[in-house]
Amino acid sequence: MPTVAEVKTALEAVLVPGVMRSLDKMNLIKDVGIEGDKVNVSIANAALMKDTQAGLAGKIKEILAKLDGVKEIVVTFVETKPKDINQIKNIIAVMSGKGGVGKSLVASLTATSLRRQNYEVGVLDADITGPSIPKMFGISGPPPIAENGILPVQTHSGIEVMSINLLLPTEDDAVIWRGPLIGHTITQFWEEVLWGKLDYLIVDLPPGTADAPLTVLQQIPISGIIIVFTPQDLTAMVVRKAVKMARQMNKSILGVVENMSYLYIPEIKKKMEIFGKSNGEEMAKTAEAPLLGQLPIDPELAKLCDEGNIERYNSEAYNTYTQKLLDVLPKK
Ligand SMILES: Nc1ncnc2c1ncn2[C@@H]1O[C@H](COP(=O)(O)OP(=O)(O)OP(=O)(O)O)[C@@H](O)[C@H]1O
Ligand SMILES: [Mg+2]
Repeated sequence: MPTVAEVKTALEAVLVPGVMRSLDKMNLIKDVGIEGDKVNVSIANAALMKDTQAGLAGKIKEILAKLDGVKEIVVTFVETKPKDINQIKNIIAVMSGKGGVGKSLVASLTATSLRRQNYEVGVLDADITGPSIPKMFGISGPPPIAENGILPVQTHSGIEVMSINLLLPTEDDAVIWRGPLIGHTITQFWEEVLWGKLDYLIVDLPPGTADAPLTVLQQIPISGIIIVFTPQDLTAMVVRKAVKMARQMNKSILGVVENMSYLYIPEIKKKMEIFGKSNGEEMAKTAEAPLLGQLPIDPELAKLCDEGNIERYNSEAYNTYTQKLLDVLPKK
């Protein structure tokens, strides 16, 4: 007979029918017991469609029947809430004092950097009224919605994404919700989405320093914040506000990122500071955190965002960002 550990190892790789994720990735294996030549397997029933259960039980039996000495296999499903099985090691929020500075872009690039390092990564788009994450990754909904949980939608490289845009009937529908409803959606994204096992969850916060980002910071146990800004006159004030908010919430600032820092003109081999002089170092001082990157205005990046191919982006400035990011992030 196999040991419990051997049964678990055999189970881990089993793909859940229809959703292309392993039992281990979804963290659905609750318990394994062995009595003589009988194996009892208990599986968490979360975010599984009804007809998935039968298929999954069949697959489990097929795999375990191949193990030496196993005569009988009993598979039981236990009702479980996604929040009780989600196992997320680090939650990083991307924040900016004001809108339109490239916060969603930095959130998406951050997720992409980590995924390229083979980490299990998710993105929670907490910008309920202006969600733009799915478009950058070129994904659309609806995601599988079961009675007891919702699965994120996977990007080309396997990043798990949840955004209100994936749940709306058409992508262009505007969301005009009031505060409490927005708060409720965030709670649902946190408690009812089956993220499974993740090394990093990147949270794209709503812009500004008003109620919306605050609500998210209160509801999700964020371990660190990345602040995004652009080189403009008002930046210093805006960054100071964001820093103040992070401190008030007792959240550590992992670093700051200057976006649209400059435009590189290859013909004359020169960097033009379109929005004004870079003040990255100064902002880093204000935040008492490292300057993780200075991303240029890059037409190629804008094009990839529009095409939904942000995961294909490569540039020197982005590589530098990835390196510095890996240096400051809490490890696995
Ligand atoms: N460095 C850049 N180079 C080229 N294009 C960029 C860059 N940064 C942002 N953009 C473009 O600007 C658009 C807006 O950026 P993004 O959605 O990330 O801003 P945001 O801060 O999240 O805005 P909001 O406050 O509305 O959420 C992107 O879709 C992208 O096309
Ligand atoms: Mg955004």
